[in-house]
Amino acid sequence: MTAPLRQNGPSPEELWEMDRAHSLHPWTNFGPFEKEGSLLIERGEGCYLWDGAGRRYFDAVGGMWCTNIGLGRAEMGQAIADQAVKLGFANSFVDVTNGPSALLAAKLAALAPGDLNRVHFTTGGSTAVDTAYRMVHFYQSCRGQPQKTQVIARNHSYHGSTYISQSIGKRPGDRVAEFRYKESGIHHISAPNFYRAPEGMSEAAFTDHLIAEFEAKLAEVGPENVGGFFAEPIQASGGVIVPPEGYLPRMAAICRQHDILFIADEVVTAFGRLGHWFASQDHFGFQPDIITCAKGLTSGYIPLGALIFSDRIWDVMAEGGDRWFTSGFTYSGHPVSCAAALKNIEIMEREDLLGNATRTGALFQSRLGALRDLPMVGDVRGAGLMICVENVADKASRTLLLDDLDVGKRISDTAEAMGLLVRPMGHLNVMSPPLTITPEEVEFVATTLEAAIRQVADDLTRIGVRLS
Ligand SMILES: Cc1ncc(COP(=O)(O)O)c(C=O)c1O
Repeated sequence: MTAPLRQNGPSPEELWEMDRAHSLHPWTNFGPFEKEGSLLIERGEGCYLWDGAGRRYFDAVGGMWCTNIGLGRAEMGQAIADQAVKLGFANSFVDVTNGPSALLAAKLAALAPGDLNRVHFTTGGSTAVDTAYRMVHFYQSCRGQPQKTQVIARNHSYHGSTYISQSIGKRPGDRVAEFRYKESGIHHISAPNFYRAPEGMSEAAFTDHLIAEFEAKLAEVGPENVGGFFAEPIQASGGVIVPPEGYLPRMAAICRQHDILFIADEVVTAFGRLGHWFASQDHFGFQPDIITCAKGLTSGYIPLGALIFSDRIWDVMAEGGDRWFTSGFTYSGHPVSCAAALKNIEIMEREDLLGNATRTGALFQSRLGALRDLPMVGDVRGAGLMICVENVADKASRTLLLDDLDVGKRISDTAEAMGLLVRPMGHLNVMSPPLTITPEEVEFVATTLEAAIRQVADDLTRIGVRLS
């Protein structure tokens, strides 16, 4: 890498080495990390990132499902700076609050569907899911149902990286032998992935099959013991699994019937990713009891998460007035984070970024959907501005390539060399660009990714891998 001239501070090479010598990154793969270190990102503007050598990339990953308004916005920096100077911290334990936190709670209540009028701030998505799990227990206990401690979630889901949120999630790649997961009291059912449905099954029959599986699981655990159901409306990190028509409303109806709280984990799908503030009601037509969110809430400028929950839950928990909800964090309702979220939402409203996500999202889906015709591409699925390309060895049988070939990584490395960042996840490549993406940029993503897939397919064929 050629180092640009520096007046002050360490060079990119020195930073790269400091990181390699001292950091443990999320999801570190020790061997490659110790050998190759990490790509040093130095600057971001809109949908673009620049590395330490000054090379520019189109970031189709959107940071990590989160840079919704795009990077480098001076007014975000100003809002954060102004609030940091005015009140850089205030705790919100028990009975203290601050202006940005109160304003943001009211704003989220106004934007969230139905009677989701109560907000509890956390530090990110994992702590929001973790708190939702605890709220299930608290709420059910207050209702006189303390035995309703069991929860149900889905395979291939990702809900975060605390002990509980990662135990609720169940992506095969995340479960390693060296870590421990909470097994008791957390049950998993199938992901609603129609691409992997039994051969010959119609979408409607697949939905019935999933519903029957949920009901069978409830019968097994006993609905009287189940307190909550956790579901991402679209399973993002599991490979952008878009559920079949009618599945989520039917799951929600069953939950309601058995007094099971439906926790919609909208850490990815909220704040415009599907063209709505929240996807549960506006995109999928169901009313959850709790929404967990983070990421797009501040577009990644600063950490913040939240649970938005119903008046009904509040009323049950608050009944009698003498209980203590002993959960929360030093940084819950952090004034600087909340000021950033308010500015972020204001920018989304002013620039109609939800409208752009709907319009350009439709183009994004159709243009990238055309990659289905390429060799090795088994499925392209998504909605709005989130999408996944699933690579296979055999398109007819949907057989996967060998794990060792690391096809997603080969494609992302090839695309990276062409100036495009896409995220590899095993045999998948996923994307979630900023909501500001233009039709020209959609074209760039589609043509570059196509070139990368073709090149990798040629390389694999050359080394003797059979693709059909
Ligand atoms: C659906 C979902 N829930 C929760 C999380 C965890 O959020 P965080 O990394 O902010 O803790 C993520 C992160 O990717 C997510 O995709």
